Amino acid sequence: MSIYRVVGGNKLEGELKVEGSKNAVLPILAATVLNEGISIIENVPALKDVATMLQILKELGCSVEYRDNTVQVDATCISSSEIPETLVRQMRSSIVLLGSLLGRTGKVISTYPGGCAIGVRPIDLHLKGLKMLGANIELMGHIVCESSELKGAEIQLDYPSVGATENIMLAAVKARGTTIIRNAAREPEIGDLQEFLNSMGAKVWGAGGQIIRIEGVDKLHNTSHRVIPDRIIAGTYMAAAAATGGRLKLNDIIIDHLHPVVDKLKEAGCVFEIRGDTLKMTAPKRLMAVDTVRTLPYPGFPTDMQAQFMALMCCARGTSIFIENIFENRYRHVDQLVKMGADIKVDGRTAVIRGVKELRGTLVNAEDLRGGASLVIAGLAAKGTTLVEGVEHIDRGYQDFGSQLNRLGADIQKL
Ligand code: EPZ
Repeated sequence: MSIYRVVGGNKLEGELKVEGSKNAVLPILAATVLNEGISIIENVPALKDVATMLQILKELGCSVEYRDNTVQVDATCISSSEIPETLVRQMRSSIVLLGSLLGRTGKVISTYPGGCAIGVRPIDLHLKGLKMLGANIELMGHIVCESSELKGAEIQLDYPSVGATENIMLAAVKARGTTIIRNAAREPEIGDLQEFLNSMGAKVWGAGGQIIRIEGVDKLHNTSHRVIPDRIIAGTYMAAAAATGGRLKLNDIIIDHLHPVVDKLKEAGCVFEIRGDTLKMTAPKRLMAVDTVRTLPYPGFPTDMQAQFMALMCCARGTSIFIENIFENRYRHVDQLVKMGADIKVDGRTAVIRGVKELRGTLVNAEDLRGGASLVIAGLAAKGTTLVEGVEHIDRGYQDFGSQLNRLGADIQKL
């Protein structure tokens, strides 16, 4: 178990390029198995989750090369339809391979991905969608999906699930006929997946809206694609700079993806200058508390920024209220922030944060990816030194998190 040693008090100033989006690249890598050929994907971040997905593709028979943030996948021959159990357990988002493997081979076997620190994470909407496309699904500890021929269907999602939307899109690409997904997730990562699929010769329209239409095709062809920048990484670095009253320049952003977070940072007193794909942010010495942060499906405030923004509000002037509407257990960072001196009361999905003058460094434990980033951000602002255990959670979603922050003037050591 590795530890970050964070010495608090440095003001963060400087410039960073935002890395490619984890939550865009994972379904895109899964989609490569639909093409019996070569896919080249650029701007792929060096993350543990990416390494896990590449390992799964290799175990399925693909040949994979990864160099300088570019991945080449040759999926000409797929020799297995079974997603290795150990790898599913390491990364539940491998579940998005159900749709693409089903679309390629007509059969897929996977372990039930199970929950994680932030919630139960059911996959009922995924399975319902695949069933409506004609898959026979058996759940006997394992998930066995089979279909001689997938047929287009009209699918109404009870909830705009990101993963379910992606799984249905992937299975529908080579299904016979047209598929309509209603109440689809609108996250930018869905739009990037649509871009990638269409660059392979698929026929997908509507991503980013509530209705996505897919017309089945027989064959796909080789392609290359550049992954969109990671809006949550951008938000996390903005939060880190804001926590220290700093100044930050971010390159390679898509401002449309950042509005919910930028607007909240403005409410807290940060000033922005945005030019094309570059953003400059200047934070005040002490942030103001924002009234309410409600996490919602895109384009609402992203649940993946809730923990990082909460770290900011711990020392803000005033009281802020958080309502976590997406996951039922996404306040694991709260008791760790309280250990650092934060004044936070949680009641169900609501957390009330009363800003205190300062936090004190101590030993804290990260339980999940974004909660871990939140504790590092709190450590940057705290008096003294904070030891953050569970850095492996952070490495799943952030490329060189500590060294990137050190480039902005932080004092972080990985022990
Ligand atoms: C994706 O997870 C992201 N992961 C998550 O990011 C993100 O928090 C989430 O979308 C919401 O934006 C990836 O893209 C790899 P959902 P996903 O299906 O697809 C319920 C991170 O930190 N639900 O939209 O699992 C579910 O329980 C990760 O990068 C069902 O009930 O999210 C949850 O309450 C964390 N049945 C809600 O929907 C289902 O079949 C949102 O889940 C599926 C989901």
